[in-house]
Amino acid sequence: MEAEVIREATGSQDSGTWIRDMTESDLDTIREIEEKCFTHVWTQQMFRTSLEQRPLTQSWVAIRDQHIVGYLIASYIPRYTKGEGEIHISNIAVSPGARRQNIGTLLLRQALEYGDTHLCNVVGLEVRESNTDARSFYRLFGFINIGRRLNYYEDEDAILMEAAVQNALHVMQEGEN
Ligand SMILES: CC(C)(COP(=O)(O)OP(=O)(O)OC[C@H]1O[C@@H](n2cnc3c(N)ncnc32)[C@H](O)[C@@H]1OP(=O)(O)O)[C@@H](O)C(=O)NCCC(=O)NCCS
Repeated sequence: MEAEVIREATGSQDSGTWIRDMTESDLDTIREIEEKCFTHVWTQQMFRTSLEQRPLTQSWVAIRDQHIVGYLIASYIPRYTKGEGEIHISNIAVSPGARRQNIGTLLLRQALEYGDTHLCNVVGLEVRESNTDARSFYRLFGFINIGRRLNYYEDEDAILMEAAVQNALHVMQEGEN
């Protein structure tokens, strides 16, 4: 069965780049990317659990030239206030050879628009304190530090970052113009 294209990149350098839902058959490739990107990796079971938790958890892959080059996993967290919720990014990675080519942005945009259509006004995540690359990426879209989780990664604290969904989408749209 052909996978459904959810989002296609629109930039002039982005032809052949698109997003689709992650499937179980993607997990071997995802493991390879995960091992290149992180010292503490998600297990195959963690990815499988994410797939099982649809629709509360959504998992997408980015495809370029027919290959998986990145993925993002996000969960919907209600905030118990009418019309308010958080889309929480629990994993995002782009293959080292495919970075700085807007793939992370395309994946994040998918999560933001999913959140926006599901009444999430906030996007949140944890990031390693030492992960300055990812923190720069998030800051670009208006994420700010809102706290710290002590020893979240066992060997390091996590910085909690948050942004307003609408604002982050606005920054992305401005970047396209
Ligand atoms: C963070 C990550 C997903 C970004 O993906 P990406 O596809 O390279 O990001 P984009 O190309 O969409 O970057 C958009 C902008 O973010 C900023 N940015 C991205 N990576 C950056 C870096 N390493 N240093 C500084 N700024 C960066 C830049 O402003 C960039 O625009 P530019 O390339 O025109 O300067 C990628 O670096 C990655 O997979 N890192 C390893 C896994 C990881 O740390 N995940 C986050 C866990 S919390």
